[in-house]
Amino acid sequence: VELIVTVPEMRAEMARVRAGGSGVAFVPTMGALHEGHLSLMRAARDAADVVAISIYVNPLQFSPREDLSSYPRNLGRDLELARAEGVDVAFAPSTEEMQPRGRTTTIGVGRLATVLEGAARPGHFDGVCTIVAQLFNIVMPDVAFFGQKDAQQTAVIERMVSDLHYDIVIYARPTVRAPDGLALSSRNAYLNADERARATVLFRALQAGAERWSSGADAAAAEEEMRAVVAGVDGVVLDYARAVDRDTFDAPRAGRAPLLVIAARIGGTRLIDNLAVEA
Ligand code: PAF
Repeated sequence: VELIVTVPEMRAEMARVRAGGSGVAFVPTMGALHEGHLSLMRAARDAADVVAISIYVNPLQFSPREDLSSYPRNLGRDLELARAEGVDVAFAPSTEEMQPRGRTTTIGVGRLATVLEGAARPGHFDGVCTIVAQLFNIVMPDVAFFGQKDAQQTAVIERMVSDLHYDIVIYARPTVRAPDGLALSSRNAYLNADERARATVLFRALQAGAERWSSGADAAAAEEEMRAVVAGVDGVVLDYARAVDRDTFDAPRAGRAPLLVIAARIGGTRLIDNLAVEA
């Protein structure tokens, strides 16, 4: 895997790849790679001749109260894992490289970015969109891969790509889970053993909500079921448990199966998860 840290070098390398007739599949990450990221890289490997990833902990998507300084970073390990997956190029710029003039132009997609995760983390999705737009402009990939674990983020990026007419196909890949159901996330590293055990309640709540929905209940009953499961575990503070439309993240549309979404805080760690239910 070739490590590139400057924008001009990354542009030049991607231009060279395109000039040679190769397509580029791109996986943006914030590093602290886990099996979820690696599954995206494998899918990228199948999709194009050249796989590029980015490793950049993006300050724009963290609020001042969030975990920017403590976010796990280990570039050496990440590069090893990327190499083992056959990644060709890893772009790991500094903040100075990405934002040499500080925060100026900001991309926002409107309402979709202000509900649920957007409400809990004001400005978060503007920060995500701004950096992903920058990365798309630098890498200019043909396809890009995102995890379904961050379903609202993927919807926000799809909206941005559509609105700004990026010629990039966005793929969302399934959430990778630990054997006990916990969705893999870089933030799981913050959980102590006790918190890690409690964290399985998110997936259990989603499953219970999905079962309720499948047995003919409405969205409100599925939400109630999720809340009840979380209430049964001490030390888990529910942020939201909702059944939403999978495109707008507003109330589900009649006749269309919703996406169940959940966010909860366990100790100092905020975790999210989601599950698509069948119609
Ligand atoms: O999902 C992430 O890791 C980040 O939000 C992303 C898409 C790399 C943008 O910083």
